[in-house]
Amino acid sequence: MPEINIMPSILAADFGRLAEGCKRAEDSGADQIHVDVMDGVFVPNISFGPDVVKMSAATVSIPQNVHLMVKRPQDHIDAFIRAGSDTVQIHIESVCNIQKTLAKIRKAGKRPAITLNPETPAQAIFQCLENRWVDEVLVMSVHPGFGGQKYLSYVEEKVMEIRRMADWVDIAIDGGIDGETIIPAAAAGCNLFVAGSYLYKQDDMAAAISDLRKKAQDNFCSAI
Ligand code: DX5
Ligand code: ZN
Repeated sequence: MPEINIMPSILAADFGRLAEGCKRAEDSGADQIHVDVMDGVFVPNISFGPDVVKMSAATVSIPQNVHLMVKRPQDHIDAFIRAGSDTVQIHIESVCNIQKTLAKIRKAGKRPAITLNPETPAQAIFQCLENRWVDEVLVMSVHPGFGGQKYLSYVEEKVMEIRRMADWVDIAIDGGIDGETIIPAAAAGCNLFVAGSYLYKQDDMAAAISDLRKKAQDNFCSAI
């Protein structure tokens, strides 16, 4: 079974105390920090740049899982790698040479990952999987741009398709993950889980992370 990872999204943390938000995630047993980068062009919202990754990497010792929701990721890869990203996720819908950009991430010794919007079919990333250009696939279970949206269960079919095709790949899911939605997501084959608003609203984040982890372990791939 691939490793189960819970990745709090600091988009849901208090922006006035972002470092504390990163530390809180690490102290609560999070496996990675998920940093949502939005350029206001690829998605309607603007969020963080490389300096936030730098701050997070300096604050915690768990890996930085960096989600680039930007139109031209190739223009920003170097800055995000220098800032301390461990995994760099680029969107298949972005305007770039996907193979070249993923190769650049790998060449820098980091984990390349490909992300799909809810409407994008699994087929769009088959070439990335067949050629093992990626270590991780991130399936969006909301339309990217904002935290706190409702989980779109129809993406589970796509997760199953990807999992059937590649048992070796890490499949992350992002958007609307909580103590209920994590069950069908894990059952479909996801092993990495981004959770923003659900985790940051908890009084006891550590208990919520353990609960998510247990549910993911108990249900992993049970639907396929
Ligand atoms: C949405 C982001 C998500 C977001 C998830 O564009 O990619 O990572 O922070 O937030 P929740 O868990 O609140 O749906
Ligand atoms: Zn994200």
